[in-house]
Amino acid sequence: MNAIADMPSSASTVTTATSAAAPLVEVRDLRKRFGDVEVLRGVDLEIARSEVVCIIGPSGSGKSTLLRCLAALETYDQGEVRIEGELLGYSERNGKRVRATQGEINRVRRNVGMVFQQFNLWPHMTALGNVMEALLRVRQLSRDEARRRANAMLETVGLAHKGDAYPAKLSGGQQQRVAIARALAMEPHIMLFDEPTSALDPELVGEVLQVMKQLARDGMTMAVVTHEMGFAAQVADKVMFIDQGKIAVQGAPREVFHDAGQPRLRQFLQNYFDRNAFWARGPDDAPTP
Ligand SMILES: Nc1ncnc2c1ncn2[C@@H]1O[C@H](COP(=O)(O)OP(=O)(O)OP(=O)(O)O)[C@@H](O)[C@H]1O
Ligand SMILES: [Mg+2]
Repeated sequence: MNAIADMPSSASTVTTATSAAAPLVEVRDLRKRFGDVEVLRGVDLEIARSEVVCIIGPSGSGKSTLLRCLAALETYDQGEVRIEGELLGYSERNGKRVRATQGEINRVRRNVGMVFQQFNLWPHMTALGNVMEALLRVRQLSRDEARRRANAMLETVGLAHKGDAYPAKLSGGQQQRVAIARALAMEPHIMLFDEPTSALDPELVGEVLQVMKQLARDGMTMAVVTHEMGFAAQVADKVMFIDQGKIAVQGAPREVFHDAGQPRLRQFLQNYFDRNAFWARGPDDAPTP
């Protein structure tokens, strides 16, 4: 069974004419500072329904902050984040912008799922319990309904047989797949991934990317911060290169990876491929320090 296919598609759950016309995510001149440092310096982007966007860029360039702003885990100082046409974090009253109430924020971000580098599973709950938790507490489903949906989600990520296992008994790749199932269970219209494979041993990366590829094939809208260039090249509709708090380059993977004319992007890719070519040579060729 493919549980993702059973989820309401984003198009079919759109409730208003305005939101149907809007991109799923729309960001205009997004600015965010931490103290004196402006971390996001005017980000503009759009993510259409069923689009997969991969976000790449150097450490500290603002990738996580951007995703966190999209999930309302971070406030922003200026600009707009719209999810399905609705302003996130603020509301407009009599033409003026005021901070939204927590209830309004929760309503707008209800359809945004997020998966982090660290899986953040509850250690004292089984895999099934972890997936059920928000269904019970936030969605207030009955236990039977929550269990049914959680099992379906574990099946989607290939872990139907691990429902009773506690996180400590699962590999990193399995834990991350539980975290994906937990996010999917909330029936998001978009999934945000912040370096979902960076904390994994190399041999476990593939199983998580496989689940993400399947999600993309099933039409899930996704924004993925990643260093997995192969995944980005293969799966992304659009690649965005963030540098110093701005989207410096965006386009189809082919344009971004092969026609990288922008000097910082070229340098970033060069560093990446140099590093990987080093590892590809294998330990026998490793230079002695
Ligand atoms: N809560 C915070 N308080 C202060 N500064 C922060 C905070 N979160 C992030 N920053 C700073 O904002 C900048 C951007 O951080 P961010 O985590 O978004 O970068 P990133 O592109 O995700 O980097 P990485 O690839 O290392 O994950 C960094 O200089 C970081 O130190
Ligand atoms: Mg980050």
